[in-house]
Amino acid sequence: MAIGLSDRVKSIAPSPTLSIDAKTKQMIAEGIDVINLSVGEPDFGTPEVACAAGKAAIDEQFTKYTAVPGIVELRKKIAAQLKERLNLDYTADDILVSSGAKHSLYNAFMALCNKGDEVILPAPYWVSYPEMIRLAEATPVVIETDESTGFKITPEQLEQAITPKTKVLLLNSPSNPTGAVYTKEELAALADVISKHEFYVISDEIYDQLVYGVEQVSIATFGEEIKKRTLLINGFSKAYSMTGWRVGYMAGERALIKAMTSFQSHTTANPSSISQKAAVGALDHKDELMVPEFRWRRDYVLDRIAKMPMLSCDTPSGAFYVFPNCSACYGKSFQGHPINSCDDFASLLLEHAKIALVPGSGFGAPNNFRISYATSRDNLKKAMDRLEAFMLSVQ
Ligand SMILES: Cc1ncc(COP(=O)(O)O)c(C=O)c1O
Repeated sequence: MAIGLSDRVKSIAPSPTLSIDAKTKQMIAEGIDVINLSVGEPDFGTPEVACAAGKAAIDEQFTKYTAVPGIVELRKKIAAQLKERLNLDYTADDILVSSGAKHSLYNAFMALCNKGDEVILPAPYWVSYPEMIRLAEATPVVIETDESTGFKITPEQLEQAITPKTKVLLLNSPSNPTGAVYTKEELAALADVISKHEFYVISDEIYDQLVYGVEQVSIATFGEEIKKRTLLINGFSKAYSMTGWRVGYMAGERALIKAMTSFQSHTTANPSSISQKAAVGALDHKDELMVPEFRWRRDYVLDRIAKMPMLSCDTPSGAFYVFPNCSACYGKSFQGHPINSCDDFASLLLEHAKIALVPGSGFGAPNNFRISYATSRDNLKKAMDRLEAFMLSVQ
């Protein structure tokens, strides 16, 4: 018998963002002035009410196991917020709190998918989705999108991707990496297609509070039947700058939530008791700074990129990313170094312009790259100056 890792683990592709990240960290450690535009977390602090609630939890010894799906106080408050923000009716029993939305997504795929089931996955997609789908032994069925539809799938594309093996449609609006947000009309058209078939919808709405001048609509609002089949995923990482606290949740039909709670009971059990209390506190926080600041930065970056040769960029309506197209550089070079892919582009930018950003290849988008504007205005200005100088040297 050969000793070795499981096929499951051996088949996981390493995170494509990691090589850039590792290189960036190494450069920073060597004292090189790299501007990091690759991060996927807000540069704001966790709200004071959340920190205070977390500290109080420690002081009060709220440090033991809790109910597996999370404390009732938190689940009730999440349900109230879903009612207030999206007009969706859930009770505490329809909610499962997990150790981050990534964990919620993993629970969902593991609980819904059998070997060979198909999961419809619009590209560009967040890097972890295909790997999670494969870990659940399901098959990702990718629908390609590009700037021509604002990186959104059409009802026709969805219809064509559906087969008797379709088990799940994965939606992510606002999107990481494109920032695209589906409108009510676009979702209504997709809902029409969904309602003609039988499969689940996993709707990852983790960036839902970060939208700029548009309304955030959930696919779960298009009637009771769709709501029953939808698992709405959200969490505290982005809207409340709580990436390190690890609190995410899923809202859905009670029977599904019960099944996933059993699954979670044998894997991680409850999320951190202290983080849950902090999340209760966070829900009292009404942010007035983050959205206008992100909007300013988005507009600034878009304005600068619009003036650079060979780059074009859609206007994203949400999240904190822009996703420019760099394919006009392919076949050209920078100081003798050829640029034939977004990976070449990102590596050269890191090495020569000292800007770290993420090539689109890992997101299923070989013509683009992702800029996170979750960094200071000063950093963005410096980074855009460097990007501009680089672009002017591409021949
Ligand atoms: C689209 C999307 N979903 C889910 C997550 C996971 O968030 P967390 O596990 O921090 O709650 C992220 C984080 O980057 C994300 O971008």
